[in-house]
Amino acid sequence: MTVDPALDVALALALDPTLTARALAAQHRAYAPYSKFRVGAAIQMSGQVFDGANVENASYGLCTCAERTAVVAAVLAGARRLEAVAVCTDASPPSSPCGACRQVLLEFAPDPAAVSVVAINPQGERRAWTLAQLIPDGFSGRELP
Ligand code: THU
Repeated sequence: MTVDPALDVALALALDPTLTARALAAQHRAYAPYSKFRVGAAIQMSGQVFDGANVENASYGLCTCAERTAVVAAVLAGARRLEAVAVCTDASPPSSPCGACRQVLLEFAPDPAAVSVVAINPQGERRAWTLAQLIPDGFSGRELP
């Protein structure tokens, strides 16, 4: 029997609506024909959850990370306060967000020590940090005149 993968994802999310489940589902929507490294993200901002996935381009420098597509979706919806992040890759151990994404996440974190960042993979491995641990002493708008 063939099952529509979109239905699989919908069913999985109905059974488990957590942030990590959203990131796992978002990974299926990655557009990563060049690196083949598919990344899904789900972030909670201002109480709402937003999904992201990496979107690559033939002009490699234009590739956009999953975390940043999620942040853009959140801001467009009017959410500004970052509360939690989940990222799903196929890496083992699970990959943490890249430096650029850490900086972009920091922009929307009123308290980086209170933002949990969880990295998972489909095999069930998991790593967790706070955003403050991932980008200690980061540069923020508070530094600007
Ligand atoms: N990537 C992400 O989506 N998030 C990260 O934090 C690290 C890297 C993507 C970018 C590119 O499409 C692929 O993973 C390989 O670097």
